[in-house]
Amino acid sequence: MDPAGGPGHLRSATVVLGVAGGIAAYKAAELTRRLVEAGAHVCPVLTESAERFIGAATLSALASEPVRTSLFDEREPIPHTSLGQRADLVIVAPATARVIAAYAAGLSSDLLVATLLATRAPVLVCPAMHTEMWEHPAVRDNLATLRRRGVHVLEPDTGRLAGGDVGPGRLPDAARILEAAEAALAAAAGRRQDLAGLRLLVTAGGTREPVDAVRYLSNRSSGKQGRAIAAAAAERGAEVVLVSTVPAEPGPRLEVVPVETAEEMAAAVAARAESADIVVMAAAVADFRPKAPAAVKLKKRDGVPEIVLEPTPDILAGLGAAKRAGQVLVGFAAETGDVVGEARRKLQSKGADLLVGNDVSAHEVGFGWDTNAVTILSRTAAVEVPLSSKREIAEAVLDAALLELRAARGGPPGRQGEPQT
Ligand code: PMT
Repeated sequence: MDPAGGPGHLRSATVVLGVAGGIAAYKAAELTRRLVEAGAHVCPVLTESAERFIGAATLSALASEPVRTSLFDEREPIPHTSLGQRADLVIVAPATARVIAAYAAGLSSDLLVATLLATRAPVLVCPAMHTEMWEHPAVRDNLATLRRRGVHVLEPDTGRLAGGDVGPGRLPDAARILEAAEAALAAAAGRRQDLAGLRLLVTAGGTREPVDAVRYLSNRSSGKQGRAIAAAAAERGAEVVLVSTVPAEPGPRLEVVPVETAEEMAAAVAARAESADIVVMAAAVADFRPKAPAAVKLKKRDGVPEIVLEPTPDILAGLGAAKRAGQVLVGFAAETGDVVGEARRKLQSKGADLLVGNDVSAHEVGFGWDTNAVTILSRTAAVEVPLSSKREIAEAVLDAALLELRAARGGPPGRQGEPQT
């Protein structure tokens, strides 16, 4: 642990701290002090407009090196490349809409953006701006582009903004930025690439089965568990397709296919399952759908409609029946009673290799929560994962799937059809 109480990745890390021109620039002084206290070597870079909000002398006094502001410095001919190459981490706090746009577009108009383009270090962007700007599609699109390229983005806080307005757009406090910086460094240092070369197909969210033009039948799945599995797999090096009924950010090695109904999900999965090494069905697929959804909105004045239901395709069972050797199928079971018994029954009846049971009647487990607790069943074993974040559950499910894959292929994982070493 470092003196600031964090896991210590910041200790002796070279951190380029970019400060852009927004009112939150004054908070860069506290952030610099906290980074230095955590053991980081801090090189501040101010944009021209940042200097209107905070004095360079203040940051120079607090940081490990004097502030830099210009691409053209007589003492240092190419400061952006030397900074970019030296950095273990680049933080931009606050990041304004202009700097975010320039970074996304690759416009190296000042020292800060040139450094961002010249570095291979992880980058943490901390946007801070007025709510209207934060919610503007241009800013959202630029941030989506940066995320897709692997940039870490710390969402702003909601609170009081310049001019007395209240809303999302506030720069988070220094402690949260330090936490995110530790996480970015940890991810860069410890990234496991044990799924590299594998293809994963993951489903997430509850399907929506139309009743009429405006109503549907669905369930309480938020898609968090499926999204966590997809994100963890992509970070571990897999090529991932996430078929999802809820919005999800694509990312490096992560393709998102949006669907709504069980039928659409079945079609999207069928088109991609053949080439997948591991399929994880974390989605809560409706078991029944209205047989004849109305094309128009049903009117209240016409009385209570009688809705006849019919079964949906069972996607997992279909995959189980068509499963080829060397492919691993993972199902989930959302249960409220005998979780392990039902999960074991589904493991067999659906032809899955693993079945992950969760008791969705328990507090902080299953639908909607950020946490989950599961039993991962294979044909021969049962592993209990106690209450943990959905990300940790995701890692445990992926670990179990990888073990199954290795067992099925008789060696370390590789692409389907490739000889195993
Ligand atoms: O999305 P969250 O809010 O994060 O919540 C996570 C979760 C509770 C949805 C997740 O952990 C979970 O349990 N997902 C499976 C939910 C479910 O539909 O369980 P089931 O027991 O009804 O189905 C068993 C398996 O068959 C599941 O893998 C399901 O995807 C699959 N299935 C079910 C019906 C159907 N028509 N086709 C299927 O493929």
